[in-house]
Amino acid sequence: MNWTDIEVDLKKKLTPKRFRHTMNVVEAADQLARTFGCDPDQARLAALLHDCAKNLTDEQQLDYARQHQLKIDRVSQNDPQLLHGPVGAVLAKECYGVTDAAIQNAIDCHTTGGKNMSTLDKIIYLADYIEKDRSFPGVETIRQIAETDLDGATIMALTNCICHVAQCGALIHKRTIDARNDLIIKTKNLKLK
Ligand SMILES: [Fe+2]
Ligand SMILES: [Fe+2]
Repeated sequence: MNWTDIEVDLKKKLTPKRFRHTMNVVEAADQLARTFGCDPDQARLAALLHDCAKNLTDEQQLDYARQHQLKIDRVSQNDPQLLHGPVGAVLAKECYGVTDAAIQNAIDCHTTGGKNMSTLDKIIYLADYIEKDRSFPGVETIRQIAETDLDGATIMALTNCICHVAQCGALIHKRTIDARNDLIIKTKNLKLK
């Protein structure tokens, strides 16, 4: 499917608010890609499709994940919307014809983060977090850091996410902890045995 066909399809499937968010993420991802030396076309397509599974119900997320042998850990069992990343990655391939594994992976980990995030993974995670309609406390600081420091901004976004989820009394996904630990180990050059 070409860009216009995907956009038309998503406009039909997503709520107007979610579609607007999607286009804001495209804009933010484009900017981050240009700043941090990633292919803007690749970043824009990953951003366009990052929430392509967001219209599915909890039951549909679980069904789809089961049908495609995706890992359903207990945190996702408790909150099936966490699966919209991994499910979206499969939909991107099967429904929208995206063969680029890097794009699929960025969609897969855009909600929770993940181990060893690539530059594209970080760009999509961050673009989703700081797009222009986001207005939570601290977002302006992360936007400023994201102008020069992709890892620093991603660590701060992951930290914020973990604190927020913990304060809500909800379960924290292991992939988010792994993503943050990995980035801190790498950026601080920690020597761990
Ligand atoms: Fe999402
Ligand atoms: Fe999103």
